[in-house]
Amino acid sequence: MALANVEKVVKDRYREGAQGQVVDLCCPVDYDPRYLEVIPKEVLERDYGCGNPSRYLNPGETVLDLGSGTGKICFIAAQVVGRQGRVIGIDMTSEMLAVANRAAPIVAERLGFANVEFRRGRIQDLALDWSLLEQELTAHPVIDAESLHAIEETARRLRSEQPLVADDSIDVVISNCVLNLVENQKKADLFGEIYRVLNNGGRAVISDIVSDEEIPLAMQKDPRLWSGCISGAFTEHGFIEAFELAGFHGMRVLEREREPWRTVDGIEFRSLTVEAFKGKEGPCWERNQAVVYKGPFKEVLDDDGHRMERGQRYAVCDKTYRLYSEEPYSNHFEFLDPRTEVPLEAAEPFDCSRTVLRHPKETKGEAYRETTEPTACCEPGDNCC
Ligand SMILES: C[S@@+](CC[C@H](N)C(=O)[O-])C[C@H]1O[C@@H](n2cnc3c(N)ncnc32)[C@H](O)[C@@H]1O
Repeated sequence: MALANVEKVVKDRYREGAQGQVVDLCCPVDYDPRYLEVIPKEVLERDYGCGNPSRYLNPGETVLDLGSGTGKICFIAAQVVGRQGRVIGIDMTSEMLAVANRAAPIVAERLGFANVEFRRGRIQDLALDWSLLEQELTAHPVIDAESLHAIEETARRLRSEQPLVADDSIDVVISNCVLNLVENQKKADLFGEIYRVLNNGGRAVISDIVSDEEIPLAMQKDPRLWSGCISGAFTEHGFIEAFELAGFHGMRVLEREREPWRTVDGIEFRSLTVEAFKGKEGPCWERNQAVVYKGPFKEVLDDDGHRMERGQRYAVCDKTYRLYSEEPYSNHFEFLDPRTEVPLEAAEPFDCSRTVLRHPKETKGEAYRETTEPTACCEPGDNCC
């Protein structure tokens, strides 16, 4: 058995962390000092992050920060996404949220706009709004089995009718040193929730502590090591695999600390920042498009099972073609459109379960027989070809 009551252990530790700086929870991170000027000192001091996902945001985006703590990353993100963007921080520890909520109007006044809000709930259950649930509990306290059943029904209704974070509503989910704190049995739910709230084409950029070896059970039972971002850590590979199992694609490591932050019993713990994308589902249509993997590797395997050799022309469906035309793939491929476009309305279904080459005649059309003169690449009088 791993540690019982992870949530209480974590909350107790971060309640303390909200009231004053707890040095052994801090991990040195370089932030752009420009963004720190508007943030109150009590927020800056009580920073327990291990990376800086806000570095990968763009103006205008809607951002959700999981385990926002006193709000530092949210206040930095607010400046990166700007007036047209929006930032929502989620945390379960009231004392952390109190510091963040005290700071929010001060930051808004200094910036000249307010685009950050904080909400209370568990990151592995982003549908349930704890503030609404508590209002219900105050009105209908649990005193017996029947009232317990009633509040469970209320929680179900709140999740579907007034979710804390709605389906498909977020452009980027970020998090800084929090996912490891969620109990292991709930980690798959957590990744499922990140997937649910992201819109199609959205992405997650997560910084977290990871281990280089599996963590032994004895360490998992240690409450100080768990709440100190050690015992609940994913392995480096397990972290990326968790995105894959939840349906994400295009995972890549954006940053990996070279030196470990801590070593416990020979196991190294360091910060990793990973990006992952939502949106590989959907119908596959044949529009005679092709892609060529440019290298440098001899072959690649994508998250849909397509294996492609460097330099070959592959037939792809319209969805894969569009997916590859964007980040994180576009630099790795050449894109070949057919001479005669196939309108989407006229396209036939494409079988995406196999990988096939695209003959150049399919791109040009069977009847194509043109002969051309060399294109004029030389100035008159040049002695070339
Ligand atoms: C290590 S601190 C990181 C805080 C913040 N991201 C930062 O960079 O300073 C972890 C935070 O996550 C919150 N937290 C931990 N587990 C959580 C969960 N399951 N749901 C919501 N918040 C959680 C804690 O209350 C705490 O504020």
